[in-house]
Amino acid sequence: MSFAEDASAISNVCDCCDLDRSSINVVVSRGNPTARLMLIGEAPGATEDSMGEPFVGRSGKLLDQLLNNVGINTSKDIFFCNALKCRPPKNRRPLRKELLSALPWLSQQIKLVDPWVIILAGSTSVEAVLGKQKDSISNLRGKWQSLDGRKVMPIFHPSYLLRNPSRVDNSPRSLTLGDLLKVRNKIKERQKGYPFHSCDLERNS
Ligand code: URA
Repeated sequence: MSFAEDASAISNVCDCCDLDRSSINVVVSRGNPTARLMLIGEAPGATEDSMGEPFVGRSGKLLDQLLNNVGINTSKDIFFCNALKCRPPKNRRPLRKELLSALPWLSQQIKLVDPWVIILAGSTSVEAVLGKQKDSISNLRGKWQSLDGRKVMPIFHPSYLLRNPSRVDNSPRSLTLGDLLKVRNKIKERQKGYPFHSCDLERNS
């Protein structure tokens, strides 16, 4: 199955739960499907639901900024998607049965994009991809995990960073920049000459 056929199947064929009845769009992906880096979030929010693309609202803008800060070009170097493709009503947390029923679509996306490194943004995407964990996201973030030979990096969800905007050392935001830098370095290590741009870590203020 090609990437385009998969995207069309997710949009037109998926009937894995009831969420499509209460949402506007099925939100499949954004970014480069041939990138070596994939980021998986939780589920579309209101802006993503109305625009039909993941991470285009406030948390997506912050995420793009942090990725750019470590030299990751968000149009070329990364593919974005979510564990759930439809917005849960009133942005409620996805149910376990919804995550499980959407998992085959996510697994298919991972197979087709075939990334070297996967970023999991927030505890829900960690649960969807790696299963329920004993550790909290505060303990898991920044520590490499693996999935079928791929390197996996859990990070704080950007909406958590919006609620905790401090930039001082050890703030969630500065820890996340460090985690994203590890990701960037891991890919650089694997392929010298991968077209990342200059690495200019955001200055703490
Ligand atoms: N939060 C997510 O997890 N995904 C989005 O696409 C937007 C907000």
